[in-house]
Amino acid sequence: MTEIGGMNIRELAETYGTPLVAYDENMLRDKLESFTKHFRSDTIRTDVVYASKAFNCKAMISLVSEYGCCLDVVSGGELYTAWKAGFDCSKTFFHGNNKTPDEIRMALDCGVGTIVIDNVMEAQELIRQIEGTDRQIRVFLRVNPGIEAHTHQYIVTAHVDSKFGISMLDWDEIAYVTDLFEGCDNTAFEGIHAHIGSQIFDKQAYSELVKKMFAFAAKMKDELGADITSVNLGGGFAALYTSKDHPIPVDEVCDEIISACEEANSSIHNQIRRVLIEPGRSIVAEAGYNLYKVGYIKKTPNKLYAFVDGGMSDNIRPALYQAEYDAFIAGKEDEEKTATYTIAGKCCESGDILIQSIALPQVNTGDILVMKTTGAYGYSMASHYNKLALPAVVFVKDGQAREVIERESYEHLISLEK
Ligand code: LLP
Repeated sequence: MTEIGGMNIRELAETYGTPLVAYDENMLRDKLESFTKHFRSDTIRTDVVYASKAFNCKAMISLVSEYGCCLDVVSGGELYTAWKAGFDCSKTFFHGNNKTPDEIRMALDCGVGTIVIDNVMEAQELIRQIEGTDRQIRVFLRVNPGIEAHTHQYIVTAHVDSKFGISMLDWDEIAYVTDLFEGCDNTAFEGIHAHIGSQIFDKQAYSELVKKMFAFAAKMKDELGADITSVNLGGGFAALYTSKDHPIPVDEVCDEIISACEEANSSIHNQIRRVLIEPGRSIVAEAGYNLYKVGYIKKTPNKLYAFVDGGMSDNIRPALYQAEYDAFIAGKEDEEKTATYTIAGKCCESGDILIQSIALPQVNTGDILVMKTTGAYGYSMASHYNKLALPAVVFVKDGQAREVIERESYEHLISLEK
């Protein structure tokens, strides 16, 4: 592959500098379209909610809006970006286990459509702020179904001791929160939400989740009188990082979920009128590439290092989750792979290794190394460690690139310092 979005990779690197995050815009569009096209049912309303934590910026949010999707935001900052992007905030879902009182106020001021309540104290805070005003908000409750999909332990979010959500086993708390919202005129308690992990390859995990969630909604209605009509199943759909990964195709996972929902709904008298999923990674990961310039090459007794001009500051995932990536050298795609390299970043940290071991053609100083599948949780988890400036981000489509986030300058880096 010599091009991204129809534009030559070396030309991209020369025009915008490195490190650079380049998205193939048509691939982003294809993913959004694929989810919205396949996540459909004849009997239940469906919505795709883009989990913007995977990559949140104004240009991305505008694309999401173009495809009619809803948006998951998890902080005041993500919400602010959506608001500034002109996103219809009534289509945002505000998540998070510790939304501050200020963030809740901001959500009400911006007209956030749905708040996903994560715990009892947050429910109390929302009611304290909204009661007696002329504001209205839909409420979903994040429940913890105790399903563990097989993912890295930091990414798993639904085991019983998770910091997220109220356990389904904690019936007293569920009943208490239901009572709170039933007694408040300004909240419409419509749905329950769960998210069972990330980078999930097993579609059965989702059908299990559907069964549990629909049955739980029915139980809440029967025993607590809560009129739960929506179920949000969270995200977690896997992306392809290396040839070892076999993610479930979007159409297949959507079909699986939709049929499970229709079946479960018929057994609870069609109580559920709306189902939602919240993909983040699976929409943006594979469309993103990180471009680095190779600096020095270093040989040790057991390794051959190629150093690049970025690292854990623009992609923490290898260091944090031992995540594996594939890469290639631009312009040398067809050359024989003659050596095994370790790709190391430039941060002052031994753990700053982007790829432990990869076969490549001979790598030379000045080559452009392209890491694939970096579009999710790369830029969004970037840091200023070692005071490295954040890379620029471009969207490339039909041979044309547009810069959607500027490269940080040293001036930006110190702009808040007194
Ligand atoms: N909805 C909720 C409530 C979530 O907590 C998440 C992710 C998603 C949706 C989207 O999940 P996705 O489709 O992207 O897997 N930083 C980690 C991933 C953390 C995911 C946290 N929650 C990583 O780089 O792998």
